[in-house]
Amino acid sequence: MHIAVVGSGYVGLVTGACFADLGHDVILVDNDQSKLNALRKGEVPIHEKFLPELLDKHRGKRIRFSEDLQSAARASEVIFIAVGTPATESGDADMSYIESVAREISGAVDSYKVVVEKSTVPVYTNEWIQKIIRRNGAHPEQFDIASNPEFLREGTGVTDFLYPDRIVVGVETERAAEVMKNVYGPLTSGWYYGRNDAVPRPDRAQTPPQLIITSAKSAELIKHASNAFLAMKISFINAVASICETVGANVQQVCEGIGTDSRIGPRFLNPGIGYGGSCFPKDLLAFRSVAKESGYDFRLLEEVIRINEEQRHRFLRKVRSVLWTLRGKRLGVLGLAFKGGTDDIRESPALLLVEELSREGCKVCAYDPAAMERAKEALGNGVEFATDAYQAAKGADAVLILTEWEEFASLDLQRLRSLVKYPIVLDGRNLYDPALMAENGFSYYSVGRPAALCEETASRGAKKERA
Ligand code: UDX
Repeated sequence: MHIAVVGSGYVGLVTGACFADLGHDVILVDNDQSKLNALRKGEVPIHEKFLPELLDKHRGKRIRFSEDLQSAARASEVIFIAVGTPATESGDADMSYIESVAREISGAVDSYKVVVEKSTVPVYTNEWIQKIIRRNGAHPEQFDIASNPEFLREGTGVTDFLYPDRIVVGVETERAAEVMKNVYGPLTSGWYYGRNDAVPRPDRAQTPPQLIITSAKSAELIKHASNAFLAMKISFINAVASICETVGANVQQVCEGIGTDSRIGPRFLNPGIGYGGSCFPKDLLAFRSVAKESGYDFRLLEEVIRINEEQRHRFLRKVRSVLWTLRGKRLGVLGLAFKGGTDDIRESPALLLVEELSREGCKVCAYDPAAMERAKEALGNGVEFATDAYQAAKGADAVLILTEWEEFASLDLQRLRSLVKYPIVLDGRNLYDPALMAENGFSYYSVGRPAALCEETASRGAKKERA
């Protein structure tokens, strides 16, 4: 099929590359000329597993890049809108990019087309897009609107797209439903999974995926409700972790005990320093605002947000209680991205903590496997940057683990022990077994689990330095 994807951010780029891998002809449209040039040259602006391979495979063949939205729309049967919907000051989603794309598309509707909203949008957006396209001259018989929310996690976006738990398509006509069934046919028929060159299957993938057809409004709500529910799960377990800390229980054991109930499930039950990223914080605010507008006071969401913020402050209090005063203390910080596997620092709790610790006079030396460039721009000169985790830890009064990168979960603990000034680790992501840390000579403080305490004497190197 001929498909246009408008917007080459995380969602648009992954969606375009994956559609090309399913055998469709894709035109990826963006109005940022420099971004398009970079993509044409083979650069990949985001850190996303398998994306460089897919773009290399299809660039100039099944995937082309263009700034000309109208020509791309004219050449396509299906047009996906994947432009940003940033939060306004009040928390509402800013829909102006979507509106201007819809206006432009209207001039290109010269044969039947399905216009699909892929961006996360408030309920009723499909009706607005329809109104705008009609208002600007397109014949109502010539197009339909569909809502096709994405459930892509950054870092695993490609496999989330190709091996989804489900595909949700919201439509109002049979004709649009047929088109959308064809778009996803290579996945729902199982054809893609039989191919030798398919992107490797992740663990837990159930194929072929289910296609759920709903009304457009339901599909819009499914996206907001899914993200709100996942964020609620994280805040719930973070609240439970706080109780575990005060009563001396172990949240890991509690998680195992509740997560094995198949009605609850073990995923998204990892306590930590709170959720961040470009989706959960923004979508929760937008959903709360949508609810308010519809006359429902969704206070549960406010509490989810409050617990999330509190989680960061709790961690900060923990750092203070372990180190006593903060001014002048050297901290080795592992992780700046909002989660492991991505270079994204938007709403990153790790970054917010580093800013707060620096404000309080700590000397932070930070390392992140992918987010260094972005973090340098955001943090400026106040923070030192290391070339790896060990360099970040060198001479540190304490090491802080703030992002759940796999490589931080398998550090050479003896090497780390020999580098730090004091053997103190504060782990905001629960990457280590406390007993193992104690065996390796660390005092180890994590989230919702009893601390493992050791003799916190300065390492030999640090003692020599002082002498
Ligand atoms: C999320 C949704 O998962 C995805 O379906 C949606 O479409 C886009 O938003 P993403 O923001 O990429 O994806 O990251 P996700 O893996 O969901 O993690 C979000 C945040 O929650 C991260 O900061 C992560 O560290 C945190 N998290 C996640 C926890 O603190 N505990 C968990 O158990 C899971």
